[in-house]
Formats: sequence, structure tokens, C-alpha cells
Amino acid sequence: MIMNEMFCVKGKVAVVTGAGGVLGGSIAKSLVQAGARIVAIDIRRENLDKRVEELTALGGEAIGVVGNVLDVQSLEQVAKEVLAKWGRIDILLNIAGGNTPGGTLAPDQPFFDMPVAEWEKVTNLNMNGTVYPSMVFGRIMAEQKSGSIVNVSSMTAYSAITRVPGYSAAKTAVSNFTQWLATEMALKYGDGVRVNAIAPGFFIGDQNRAVLINPDGSLTDRSKKVLAKTPMGRFGDISELNGAVQFLCSDAASFITGVVLPVDGGFSAFSGV
Ligand SMILES: NC(=O)c1ccc[n+]([C@@H]2O[C@H](COP(=O)([O-])OP(=O)(O)OC[C@H]3O[C@@H](n4cnc5c(N)ncnc54)[C@H](O)[C@@H]3O)[C@@H](O)[C@H]2O)c1
Repeated sequence: MIMNEMFCVKGKVAVVTGAGGVLGGSIAKSLVQAGARIVAIDIRRENLDKRVEELTALGGEAIGVVGNVLDVQSLEQVAKEVLAKWGRIDILLNIAGGNTPGGTLAPDQPFFDMPVAEWEKVTNLNMNGTVYPSMVFGRIMAEQKSGSIVNVSSMTAYSAITRVPGYSAAKTAVSNFTQWLATEMALKYGDGVRVNAIAPGFFIGDQNRAVLINPDGSLTDRSKKVLAKTPMGRFGDISELNGAVQFLCSDAASFITGVVLPVDGGFSAFSGV
């Protein structure tokens, strides 16, 4: 296989959860431009309709399905619709997730007073929201004996990041689950089904804009600390995740399973000293 073909995802059917969001949208657009067929899933219809319009305007094939990553039955319905339309599922990108405002402790808020309902919400979305779609769409990949799952972990899974206990615990679970499911799939269904994750560093998105950028556009103290520990000295551009995801989904990564690939400008490599 010549080098460019190894990275090819043309014609592959890719289910993207959280496709209405920032990361999901960027990655879905890049995959559609590379010729993949996209099944965009999001719980919010308004996000989804706009996304499908954008994907088809790029000349790609895309469908949007309202679905909840925490509802196995709704995912099974999506799987049925995709199989009826395209007959297979090659890629699952578990992107739905993120921190919730209530899941972030205020700087002076004691952990002991953490609202338990917020802890449950954020751990449920990020952990179970990765596990349940992997059960439903992973079953189809196991039957096909081929497929690639890519999860989204975080820098919070490497070392402690203050104020976000639930998000940190859940993303650490995502990294561990990535290794667990990679092992399970390879041992039971052979080398055709791979499971990996990306761990994004710091990108300015809707979920974290308020903690990283002041209303006047200047950097918050927290974002100054982030940049001080990022050897490349800058935030990432969302588009810089696209290549890592396409690589993991392609034949170029045919012997790679169970890895969590940091895309972080060196943040996870650097002690800060
Ligand atoms: N933005 C960053 O800097 C950054 C850094 C590290 C990791 N991440 C991770 O990347 C992923 C996407 O982040 P983002 O910044 O694009 O967030 P986002 O809020 O822009 O997008 C998330 C999308 O998921 C959808 N969603 C929420 N709950 C859902 C559910 N139950 N079922 C289906 N869809 C649901 C939302 O409607 C939204 O469209 C998350 O897992 C987040 O933790 C983001």
C-alpha cells in the first residue's frame, strides 16, 4: 500500500457522537472532506441540523440522528438506521462529553461541599457516555471483525488539575476503558477491531472559555499556568486534533490499539521545571 492510501478513510462509515459540538464538528468536517460517510449524533437537534447542512455543503455524505449516548435503546435505534442505510459501521468517535458548570468547584469551594448530583452528572456523561455507544456500535464491529473506536480522554487523566474532580475521574476512566476494551476486542474478535483515544491538551472551546479567557480578552491566571506548562507555549487549534483522529482510524494504525495519544503541545510530557 502506498503511503497516502494508508491514511485513507474514503467510504468508511463513521459514527460521531457529540457531532453538534466544537470538537465533534471539526473532526466530522475533516473526515467528510477525506471521503468518510458521517453519522452525526447529538442530543440537541438544533446543533445537529446545522452540522449536517455544513457536512453536506462540503460535498460529503452525512446523516444526523438525535440520540442520547446515555440511552442504550436510542443508540440501538441509530445503529439499525445506519445499517439499513449503509450496511456497516467502520468508525466510532465517542466525542460527546465535557465538563459541566456545576461540576467545577469555585476556587474557594471545599470539595466536602461538592454537589453530589453534579458529580453524578459529569461522571455519567463522560464515562458511561463512552461505554454505552461502544457496547452498541462495538458489537457491530465485532461481528464485522473490523472497526476503529476513538475515545476522548483529557490531560486530567495524567495528573491532577484543580477544581474538576468529577471530570478528572471520568476521563481517567475513559483512558482505562480504552485499554480494557482494546484488549477485550483483540483477544475475542481478532486484530481487526481497534480501540484508542486522543487526550487533547488545552483548546479554547465553549466549555472552558470562561475559565481561560477574561471578558476583556486577556488570559486568566489559570490559562497563564496552562501555557507555562505547555512547552509549545500556546493553546491548540481545534483542527490540530483532526490528523491524530484520522491516523488512528486508518490502516496506518493497523497495529495500534489501546493507546491514549496526547495532542497537547507537550503539556503531559513536561514537569513544569
Ligand atoms: N474543548 C477542549 O479544550 C477539550 C479538551 C479536552 C477534552 N475535550 C473533550 O472533547 C469532547 C467534546 O468537547 P467540546 O469542547 O466539543 O464540547 P461541546 O460542548 O462543544 O460539544 C459536546 C456535544 O455533545 C452533545 N451532548 C451532550 N450530552 C449528550 C448526550 N447525552 N448524548 C449525545 N450528545 C450529547 C452536546 O449537545 C454538544 O453538542 C468532550 O468529551 C470534552 O471533554 C475538550
